[in-house]
Amino acid sequence: MNAIIDFLQPYYQHIRFVHLTAVMVWVWSTSVAYAYYLLPVFKAWRRNPDDQQIIELRNWVMERFDHGVIYEHIAFPIVIIAGIMLYIVGGHSTAENWLLLKLAIVIGVFIPIEITDYYLSHFGGNKHKLRKAGSAQDYERGIQLHWWFFLITTAVVMLGGTAVIFLAVVKPF
Ligand code: HEM
Repeated sequence: MNAIIDFLQPYYQHIRFVHLTAVMVWVWSTSVAYAYYLLPVFKAWRRNPDDQQIIELRNWVMERFDHGVIYEHIAFPIVIIAGIMLYIVGGHSTAENWLLLKLAIVIGVFIPIEITDYYLSHFGGNKHKLRKAGSAQDYERGIQLHWWFFLITTAVVMLGGTAVIFLAVVKPF
């Protein structure tokens, strides 16, 4: 293990570059799609729940979002792996309170949310797969479940993400 740490030590700033770049993709890659496509279409659907044209647009936007979130979902494991490398190679410890609180938010909030989002976007909850499976009821339930998931988690991720970036850059305590 020491040999690995010694080998990686000169690349600490390179690992930090990878960590930070992945964080940028993780935090921002879905923001425009969410704010300017998903949100307005779902609001229109809420106001006109029986409008067939709005429902078709809602379904299309949600299925595209299942695809587009792939940037965020590739970046997240890179953030975690590079973070663990920074922790080990940099000789960091949870005695650093900023890091302790940061990891509490990452492990307690981000990881459970991302695991659920992986499932809803790419596995059993993938809307394209649900549509291909042919059950209109399952498809509608999948769309609405993912929408409620966004309504509950978006503010948490935005506040938690800002807090973690502040903690990691400013290291206030
Ligand atoms: C979504 C999760 C994460 C986010 C948003 C995040 C964000 C950041 C940011 C913005 C920095 C840059 C600070 C700077 O270079 O000035 C940073 C640094 C750091 N991160 Fe993360 N991080 C995450 C996960 C992790 C994990 C899981 C670990 C460790 C297990 C970790 C360990 C570190 C360490 C040790 C640094 C300090 C680098 C330094 O200042 O030398 N991070 N993180």
